[in-house]
Amino acid sequence: MTERIVLAYSGGLDTSVAIGWIGEATGAEVIAVAVDVGQGGESLETIRQRALGCGAVEAYVADASDEFANEYCMPTLKANALYQGHYPLVSAISRPVIVKHLVKAAREFGATTVAHGCTGKGNDQVRFEVGIQTLGPDLKCIAPVRDLALTRDKAIAFAEEKGLPIETTKKNPYSIDQNVWGRAVETGYLEDIWNAPTKDIYDYTATPEFPPAPDEVTISFEAGVPVAIDGVKVTPLQAIKELNRRAGAQGVGRIDVVEDRLVGIKSREIYEAPGAMALITAHKHLEDITIEREQARFKATVGQRWSELVYDGQWFSPLKRSLDAFIEDTQRYVTGDIRMVLHGGQAIVNGRRSETSLYDFDLATYDTGDTFDQSMARGFIELWGMSAKVASGRDIRVAGK
Ligand code: ARG
Repeated sequence: MTERIVLAYSGGLDTSVAIGWIGEATGAEVIAVAVDVGQGGESLETIRQRALGCGAVEAYVADASDEFANEYCMPTLKANALYQGHYPLVSAISRPVIVKHLVKAAREFGATTVAHGCTGKGNDQVRFEVGIQTLGPDLKCIAPVRDLALTRDKAIAFAEEKGLPIETTKKNPYSIDQNVWGRAVETGYLEDIWNAPTKDIYDYTATPEFPPAPDEVTISFEAGVPVAIDGVKVTPLQAIKELNRRAGAQGVGRIDVVEDRLVGIKSREIYEAPGAMALITAHKHLEDITIEREQARFKATVGQRWSELVYDGQWFSPLKRSLDAFIEDTQRYVTGDIRMVLHGGQAIVNGRRSETSLYDFDLATYDTGDTFDQSMARGFIELWGMSAKVASGRDIRVAGK
């Protein structure tokens, strides 16, 4: 029986050529797998037809946008995950959901190998292959760009020679990856890290210099998940989309960073994640009133480690699973409303309310009626400073000798 390979298919030039390229190099039949993670653009049916037109024996297309929002974006939100303090893991969280569908398709169509279009220099190859190894340990991996010398020029020549139904003239100098959680742009002119991004780079956000009137929004959460916007019930996917639109119009969520790739290279990235950044900001502010201090401090550390694991392709790892359990436990009381103003590139919280809040007005107030017994503070401070005071006494004693 002819060997079969499932290919992660985007519908773009490189993966369209990869169908025939893999076929010629390996003699295998190629099954194209396209997964909708809210990237917008062409319909799955258009992509399916193109895959078949480029020589795929089958095309597996899946609308995974709700699955992605519920099972990938929501855990990212609960973790307030920002890799290196900036990047909301846009591409990093889409790879594992694509991997799930690749493995499912491999089983359905009897494939032995999984192929993806990544280069050998980035994180995405690691995320795909570590994910495949975990969910389908018997499956092999192949990356035509990395392993079968499929360069851009060769891809264009191949497409023209075979008359593939794909545009080869549209020149985009950037490498772009996008989904409902955000958009990542790299390479080209951006590789000079002193170059400011030009306006044409952005698509999810409007330039914040000339914003429309401020937009006040109230986001309601239940156990860490957005459930309503301005009182209208929403699913997680709808919440992200609605905030992509409203925060995007105000230029919220533009990120320009040099980040540390897992493979050891520092790389310049431009991200746009209006919905994700508005949601993370609101969620963090709700946590500030609903999570106990020590749990909150520890959770920040856990969230950082979680982000690194996910960035590094360890979505399906045991440690990531354990940290998920901790984070989930912290979300029990993260229920309530956050009001924020979206304007001029910023999302600023200006109100919060929650039935499960730990904010105690009577303890906090400086007005009369305050229930806090200030006389307790003296003894507390005495004991709190004791250890450092003893050590300082020792320093003076030793230095004096
Ligand atoms: N640097 C980001 C990450 O590793 C984004 C990668 C985007 N991928 C792409 N092919 N442009 O998650």
